[in-house]
Amino acid sequence: MRLKSALLGLGLGALGLVTTLPAQAEQYRLGLITPPPHQWTKTAEAIAAEIAEATEGRVEILVMPSGQLGNEARMLQQLQTGAIDFALLTAAEFANRDADYGVFYAPFIADDAQDAARLLRGEVAGTLLDRMDNFGLHGLAWGMAGLRQIVTSGPVSSVADLEGQRIRTVPLAPEMAFWTGLGAAPTPMPLPALYDAFANGQVDGMQIDHEGTWNSGYWKHAGTVIASGHMIFPMAAVASGRKWQTLSEADRATVSRIFETRVAGMVDLYGEIDAINLARLQETGVPVIEVDRAWFGPAVEAWYESWRAKAPLLADLEAEAAR
Ligand code: BEZ
Repeated sequence: MRLKSALLGLGLGALGLVTTLPAQAEQYRLGLITPPPHQWTKTAEAIAAEIAEATEGRVEILVMPSGQLGNEARMLQQLQTGAIDFALLTAAEFANRDADYGVFYAPFIADDAQDAARLLRGEVAGTLLDRMDNFGLHGLAWGMAGLRQIVTSGPVSSVADLEGQRIRTVPLAPEMAFWTGLGAAPTPMPLPALYDAFANGQVDGMQIDHEGTWNSGYWKHAGTVIASGHMIFPMAAVASGRKWQTLSEADRATVSRIFETRVAGMVDLYGEIDAINLARLQETGVPVIEVDRAWFGPAVEAWYESWRAKAPLLADLEAEAAR
């Protein structure tokens, strides 16, 4: 397909030369909201390159980062119609439609990034991937963006300092519920809008990861970095269910294997990615405080009580976490 695009670019399509190329070559598109330096985008690029080689060019995937294909709600619609083919998505759109997809956001369900990796490969994760066909998708793998941390513009020394603060979250019910439980004002906002909103004081803080805090420079406007590691931030690698059916069985097996291996490799990197970026943030001079589950007080248990009733798979995930 790369050759076909080049020939079209040279105007050779008009001469009828392009139609002699193999009919099965097709350009697929993968959408995601993260910018080029983000690990999700780097992983998507590596997946696309490996798949193109392994399928001898039959499956060429063009990676479109930074929300070029629209926000995640829009990408989900396009995946459902087959207008786009693959995506790396946060679990937000799924969790807002089916509470079970919110279980990975359970506060402190994972002790650290390694523990998070174990849960993302566990039975509950498998069940949720299998259920992606309810959304018209084919689930390929669960990834993550490490653990969630907090960045505020002002000083924070205790959880009481977060009361009344406008904290940016993803537009996602379980994340927002956590912040409401802490007495803060969760302010849902997509990632691309965040830098300006924080710099201009439209939000007082954010729930984010160390990687984004460093790469996107949020720390430049920060009064405190709270290294809390309080939630996993899951990512679903998915294919359009419609388009998936059009791939040959052999290509489906190749694509599945490469997504699974590359996404698992990325997940395994996150402990290190989080640690490297935390060390960079500690050198900026912005105060970094490290906090644990107890620091958040009764809001954590209150979250579980409320979400156990909404999401039947939460009890199963808690059992897996305890193993
Ligand atoms: C965020 O919205 O916070 C986010 C989205 C994708 C990757 C990492 C962070």
